[in-house]
Amino acid sequence: MTTVSSTLPCPFDTEFFTDPYAAYARLRAEAAVHHLNAPDGEPIWLVTRERDVRAALSDPRLSVNKAHSTKGYKGFSLPPALDANLLNVDHDDHLRLRRLVSQAFTARHIAKLRTTIEATTHQLADSIAADGITDLAVAYAYPLPVTVIGDLFAVPETDRLAFASWVTAMLAPDHPGQVGEAIGHIQAFLTSLVADRRHAPGSDLLSSLIAARDEGDRLSEDELVSLAFLILMAGSENVQHLITSGMLTLLQHPQQLDELRASPALLPDAVEELLRYAHPNQMAIRRFPMEDILIADVVIPRGEAVMLCLASANRDPDRYSDADRFDIHRKDKSHLALGQGLHYCLGAALGRMEIHAALATLLRRFPRLRLAVPSHELRWRSSWRSHALRELPVTAN
Ligand code: HEM
Repeated sequence: MTTVSSTLPCPFDTEFFTDPYAAYARLRAEAAVHHLNAPDGEPIWLVTRERDVRAALSDPRLSVNKAHSTKGYKGFSLPPALDANLLNVDHDDHLRLRRLVSQAFTARHIAKLRTTIEATTHQLADSIAADGITDLAVAYAYPLPVTVIGDLFAVPETDRLAFASWVTAMLAPDHPGQVGEAIGHIQAFLTSLVADRRHAPGSDLLSSLIAARDEGDRLSEDELVSLAFLILMAGSENVQHLITSGMLTLLQHPQQLDELRASPALLPDAVEELLRYAHPNQMAIRRFPMEDILIADVVIPRGEAVMLCLASANRDPDRYSDADRFDIHRKDKSHLALGQGLHYCLGAALGRMEIHAALATLLRRFPRLRLAVPSHELRWRSSWRSHALRELPVTAN
C-alpha cells in the first residue's frame, strides 16, 4: 500500500534546480503521489511515476480547465485574453480551436519548412566565434525557434526577442514582481499585433486566425489572442531548452557525440533520447479531476490541482532500463516528452525538426566544439516549472 507524503519532499533549492532527478528518484520511491505546496503557494498533488503519469494524460475525468478547480487555483493568473487557449479548454471547445491551427502543423506541412530552418541554423552558426567563448544559448538555441515561430506568425523581427524575454520572465522570473509585468507586456503586444494585422492581413497564421474570427465567427477575440500567445510561447520555450540541454548532454557524452558525427543518420534516434533524457518540463503539466479519482491507491479530491511530472516519468526505472543513462541506441524510443492524448503537442513535428536541424549544423560545422567551463559551473534557471540552462558557454576550436 502506498502512502501520501504530506511534507514538502522537494527542497526547490539550487541543488534541485541544477539536478532535479535525484529528488524525483526519491519521490518515486517514497510514494505514488505527493501532496505539497508549490513555490507559488498553490497546493498540488504531484504524480511522478511513469505508469500513473501516462494513465492520467489520457484520463477523460481529468480536465485542463481551471474552471474545474474547487480551490480557486490561479497558476499564472492570466487574463482571459491569454488564458482562453488549448491548454485551458476541454472537449468541443478544444477540438474547435485545435482544428483552426492543426493544419499548419501536420508533418507534411512542416516538411516544407525544412530548407528555411536549416538555412536559419547556418546563419546563426555564423555568429559562433571561431576564437574565444560563445554563449550557445543566446547566440544559437534561443533565436532559432523564435525565428521559426515568428515567421509563421509574421511577427516583426524587431519584436521577437523582446517577446521571448517576456515569456522567460513570466515562466522563470528572477523576482516575483516580474511575472505580472511580463504578462502585461505580452498582452499589450499581442493586442496591438492583432490590430495591425487586421488592418493589413498577409498569408501568415495570425491572418488566417483573424479571418476565422471575422469572417467565420469560429472563435472569440480572447481565443484568438490566447491561441497566438500559446503557440508563440510553446513554439519557442521547449525547443530552445532542448537544443541547449541537448548539446550539453552530447558534449558530456563524447563517445556518442563522435558516433553521431560519423553517422548523422543516428541523429533522429538521438533527438528522441534527448527528449526523454533532457526534458525541460518539470511541474508544468496541470489537470483538475472532475470527480474524486484514484491515482495508484491515493484518492485525489475533485477540483484539486494535479501536476504530472513528465521529466520524472521519462526517467522512471520501472519503465526504462538504466533510466538515468543517456543512450542513443536505446531500443525503446517511446516517451512522454510531448504529452499524450487529446492535448498531445501540436508542434511535435516542428519541434523535432528544429532540434534535429540545430544539432546537425553544430555537429557538422564545429567538430571541436567543447564546453568553456566545467559542467558544475553552469548556471540553471531557478524554476520549478522548467529545467533550463541560463547559458551554455562553448569554444569552437
Ligand atoms: C520539442 C519541443 C517541445 C516539447 C518538449 C513540447 C511539449 C509539449 C507537451 C508535453 C505538451 C502537452 C501539454 C499538456 O498535456 O498539458 C505540449 C502541448 C502543446 N505544444 Fe508543445 N512541445 C514542444 C514543441 C512545440 C512547438 C514547436 C510548438 C509550436 C507550435 C508547440 C505547441 C504546443 C501547443 C499549442 C500545445 C497544446 C496542445 C493542446 O492542448 O491541444 N510545442 N507540448
